[in-house]
Amino acid sequence: MQSDPQRYTVTAALPYANGPVHIGHLAGVYLPADIYVRYLRANGRDVKFICGSDEHGVPITIRAQKEGVTPQQVVDKYHAIIRDSFQEFGVSFDIYSRTSSKTHSEVASGFFKKLYEEGKFIEQVSEQYYDEKAAQFLADRYIVGTCPNCGNDNAYGDQCEKCGTSLSPTELISPRSMLSGNQPVLRETKHWYLPLDQYEPWLREWIVQGHKHDWKTNVYGQCKSWIDQGLQPRAVTRDLDWGVPVPVPGAEGKVLYVWFDAPIGYISATKDLLPDTWETYWKDKGTKLVHFIGKDNIVFHCIIFPAMLKAHGDYILPDNVPANEFLNLEGDKISTSRNWAVWLHEYLQEFPGKADVLRYVLCANAPENKDNDFTWKDFQARNNNELVANLGNFINRAVVLTHKFFGGKVPAVGALTAQDGEVLQQLAEFPQRIGDLIDNYRFRDALNELMNLTRAGNKYLADTEPWKLIKTDEARTGTVLHVALQMAASLVTLLEPFLPASADKLGQMLRTEKKSWQAAGRADALSAGHQIGEAALLFDKIEDATVEAQVQKLLNTKQANELAAAVAAPAKPDISFEEFQTMDLRVGTILSAEKVAKTKKLLKLSVDLGFEEPRTIVSGIAEHFVAEALIGQQVQVLLNLAPREIKGIQSQGMLLMAENADGSLSLMQPSSHVRPGSGIA
Ligand code: 2FM
Ligand code: ZN
Repeated sequence: MQSDPQRYTVTAALPYANGPVHIGHLAGVYLPADIYVRYLRANGRDVKFICGSDEHGVPITIRAQKEGVTPQQVVDKYHAIIRDSFQEFGVSFDIYSRTSSKTHSEVASGFFKKLYEEGKFIEQVSEQYYDEKAAQFLADRYIVGTCPNCGNDNAYGDQCEKCGTSLSPTELISPRSMLSGNQPVLRETKHWYLPLDQYEPWLREWIVQGHKHDWKTNVYGQCKSWIDQGLQPRAVTRDLDWGVPVPVPGAEGKVLYVWFDAPIGYISATKDLLPDTWETYWKDKGTKLVHFIGKDNIVFHCIIFPAMLKAHGDYILPDNVPANEFLNLEGDKISTSRNWAVWLHEYLQEFPGKADVLRYVLCANAPENKDNDFTWKDFQARNNNELVANLGNFINRAVVLTHKFFGGKVPAVGALTAQDGEVLQQLAEFPQRIGDLIDNYRFRDALNELMNLTRAGNKYLADTEPWKLIKTDEARTGTVLHVALQMAASLVTLLEPFLPASADKLGQMLRTEKKSWQAAGRADALSAGHQIGEAALLFDKIEDATVEAQVQKLLNTKQANELAAAVAAPAKPDISFEEFQTMDLRVGTILSAEKVAKTKKLLKLSVDLGFEEPRTIVSGIAEHFVAEALIGQQVQVLLNLAPREIKGIQSQGMLLMAENADGSLSLMQPSSHVRPGSGIA
């Protein structure tokens, strides 16, 4: 445990309130942040854990337009969903605020005003894209076009999501408006810019010299590459009507750029939490500021926000910005727009009481140094093999055997063997070992260490076999269970940052409280004679059918996406009206339908086309329709297709079908019943 800071301000990226949060957000940001904070608290640290909804910016207004509601309605809806699901997942924010709050508007305005009055901005008129039909400037995501870097046709005005390049709207090839689809025009508009170029030497020194060794390689690398490319002045205002109004004369119809106001949201949330003392957490040099974010937020938290804080002058700077890489889902990038995600609120509904299982899997497989993949098979395997068979099994054996042999009272400890001593020595070292890893933001390794403790516990019980020992040596059995119960008790504290609900449940089972982190490794957590509670399972097995249902849900999503993305086949060359008229198209009624023997695809149909005799038509639709279900249906028929012999049957026409994107067929039917033989023109 680093001993220097007097207090900690820990922030987790403010999620956009334009949709619920998914497992990618959790694994990248909120879970590591929560583990870190819970660990600090267990060390008796003064820590404030700050978050809230990011409620401004184009992602919100676009969602509002799509849903046909106001931006306020969008943020109200998603703020509540996100806040509640975080709480149920056990993310222990000290405050979960929102950037549409009054405090935030005041703090963000005040921040801007101070920089403005001190001449820290450049005022500049430039040409920006404008949609004449929508009568609106096209900021950020309101404009899409082809990425000059990778050719993606749907790159946004501020970023290409395919290759990750940060863009400005004028770099897009063939730009088009998201509002009308029209080609925009250029129009002059005035904005305020933060001259990042002026902060470049300072940023270089602060990051390249100051944080080369303590920031994660991915974070440092991205910052260095930005700085090496040369920083440009960055506009911090936008022509939009949703956001914090720019609080200076001549700025009507303009709001603060969302990436200017959002990080200030950390400050305003702290002010909401601690109206009298918030400044200590942002201005006092004894405070350690840590930002947990995803990798797409690195530039904003390591370059732009620090430059803003530096320009302001009163604030401390982040000590670390432990950004994770991305989590994929079943081999594919998680995407809100494609609905390719495991949504937290849905998971909590579908797996009640299993927040800790997801916490475990996401931490054990966290994308700390590279992108990682979440699969439902892995989720099931980790639950069944690690939580149930390792952790749960150890606790269950220790508790059940104590009840069975000692009436649920912690047995007295006798003389210790070398193995007992070794196990207790290991136990004493675990808090420090796990803590050092957490201090260094290595949460995966920390969790693995914790599981090593329970592995050691299982091995100890397997080696000493108290269930056999009891027949010959009750006192020795008591010592073994005494030692095992001390290990179990340590988990009430050590497990808590990772799996808080399970730690609570374990505490109730052992009838003991959480200790301080360092005290967790002590061998006297439970004294002899202490009555423990009833045994209860901490985890239970997840069956194949449960995860198969989740995989099926994703397959359905994939299918829906493919259907939605299907593009119509290119048009065939033009034909003349006369050529069209050569086709004799009629409505017919199917009188009978039967499979053609020894074929998979063919149906023999008898169709009433208004003539004296019905016509026989052989059609390759047997895999798409049940023959009997076709009887009585009306269909479109090309009557004058030259007769053909198919499998020895003379086919006298062709049924017309619509082919769906997934290859399935639909009958082309008149909207109401018509006389068989009616012409189609
Ligand atoms: O990427 C995002 O989801 C942003 N809403 C994160 C903002 S973090 C902070 F600056 F508020
Ligand atoms: Zn690109």
